[in-house]
Amino acid sequence: MSAALTPPASLRVVILISGTGSNMQRIAELAQAGKLPIHIAAIISDRADAKGLQTAAAMGLPTAAISPKQFPSRDAFDAALAELVDSQQPQLVVLAGFMRILGANFVQRFADRMLNIHPSLLPKYPGLHTHQRALEAGDVEHGCSVHFVTAELDGGPVVIQARVPVVSGDTTESLAARVLVKEHQIYPQTIGLIAAGRLQSHSGKVWLDGKELTAPLLAQDSTP
Ligand code: GRF
Repeated sequence: MSAALTPPASLRVVILISGTGSNMQRIAELAQAGKLPIHIAAIISDRADAKGLQTAAAMGLPTAAISPKQFPSRDAFDAALAELVDSQQPQLVVLAGFMRILGANFVQRFADRMLNIHPSLLPKYPGLHTHQRALEAGDVEHGCSVHFVTAELDGGPVVIQARVPVVSGDTTESLAARVLVKEHQIYPQTIGLIAAGRLQSHSGKVWLDGKELTAPLLAQDSTP
């Protein structure tokens, strides 16, 4: 008699959003299509009216909202959010357009297992209005980065970047739209590497296939 086949373990993921949730949607679509071996335990938003929560619910994903307004301080909100996230026992926390700065305690709690995507070629343009800043600086290229989250805002080790040329006549909207296409490519790609056990963060460094990653990967045009 042969042993029962057990499906390969899938990575348990919680995704945090604040707005549209297009990155979340792309990741969830790939997971539901069997192209990304993750189990999405919950989609959590700091805004009950986030469009992405409706999208997630329509996809049959568990959702939750937790508003900072319900808490007396940023630390109290962070602690409650951390409890909510932890209750889902994630192996990976994915910040996907989550627009709140998380405090050091939260970051420490999920150290080495929390990713963020940022719409610039870090270390250029941490913070907000990245597309506008790239245009105002006259940059010939722009892009996006996926990084592990540390206490420094948009300052954790970068895993992968995708470059996008700035073209004549670009507006913040046109540039943002082209960057977003790349975001939808590199975020699932990074999560796939983690789910495959190929990518880790520890000892303050990022490791790919057992070797220290000394420079960010550069996205190719092919899908993961
Ligand atoms: C993306 O540009 C992401 O890089 C930034 O916020 C935006 C979120 O977009 N952090 P969406 O909610 O995933 O559509």
